[in-house]
Amino acid sequence: MAMPLVDTEYLKQIDKARRQLRGFIANKNCAPLMLRLAWHDAGTYDKNTKTGGPNGSIRNEGEFSHGSNNGLKIALDFCEEIKFRHPKITYADLYQLAGVVAVEVTGGPTIDFVPGRKDSLTSPKEGRLPNATKGAPHLREVFYRMGLSDKDIVALSGGHTLGRAHADRSGFDGPWTKEPLKFDNSYFVELLKGESEGLLKLPTDLVLLEDPEFRKYVELYAKDEDAFFKDYAASHKKLSELGFTPS
Ligand code: HEM
Repeated sequence: MAMPLVDTEYLKQIDKARRQLRGFIANKNCAPLMLRLAWHDAGTYDKNTKTGGPNGSIRNEGEFSHGSNNGLKIALDFCEEIKFRHPKITYADLYQLAGVVAVEVTGGPTIDFVPGRKDSLTSPKEGRLPNATKGAPHLREVFYRMGLSDKDIVALSGGHTLGRAHADRSGFDGPWTKEPLKFDNSYFVELLKGESEGLLKLPTDLVLLEDPEFRKYVELYAKDEDAFFKDYAASHKKLSELGFTPS
C-alpha cells in the first residue's frame, strides 16, 4: 500500500507554511492575487468527468497561459518560495492554503482547511472558468458543472471584495470596493448602491442584481455581514475541496 500523503511531518509543514504565508501575503499585499490563484486552480472542476479542480495543474504553462489566468504567474512564483521551504506540501494544497490565508489576513472568515490534495499535471482545455461578459445562464452552467449552487455563486462572488481588475490582464479596470485589501461585505453594499465613481462592476456582477434568485442573497449579505461570512466560509471550503475526499 502507498504511504499516506498526510503524516505528522506533513501537518507540521502545513502549519509552518501557513505562518509563512500570513507574513508573506501581508508584506507583499498580494492577498487578492493569491485568492484568485486558489479559485482559478479549483474552478475548472467538472463533476461529471471528475476532471480539473484544486489539483495544482494551474502551474502548467499550458494552463496558466490561458487568457483568464493572465497575471497569475506572479502568484505561482510567490508560491514557489513557500514550496521551496516546505517541499512535502503539494502544489494543490499550497494554492488552496494560500487562498484560505489570504481571506484570513485581510479580515475575512476563518475557512476550515483540510490537507491531502494530490497534484496533477493534466490541465483541462481552456474555457472552463466563467466569462465576465456573460449572463446568468452562463454563470449557472459553469458553477453547476462544478457541483455548486446559486447561493455558492453569490457568496463566492463576494471574493471581489478583495483586489481589482487590470486593463492589461482582463481588459477591465478598477477595484470593486473602496478598500480592496479588506475582506468585508462591501462588495454587496456597493453592488446595491449602483454606479459609483471609480468602482468596477463586471457584467457578471450585475447579473447578481438582475436575477431574483441571486438578488435575495445579495440583499441578505449587504445587510448582514455575519451571514455573508458564514456562507462564504462554507462555499469557499466546498470550492477548495472539489473532487477531493480527505483520507
Ligand atoms: C479578479 C472575473 C468569480 C476572486 C477578477 C477579474 C475578472 C474576474 C475579470 C479581473 C482580473 C484582472 O484584470 O486582474 C470573475 C468572474 C467570476 C469571478 C466572471 C464569476 C462569478 C470569482 C470568485 C473569486 C474571485 C469565485 C474568489 C472567491 C477574484 C479576486 C480578484 C478577481 C480576488 C482580484 C485579483 C487582483 O486583484 O489581482 N475576477 N471572477 N472571483 N477575482 Fe474574480
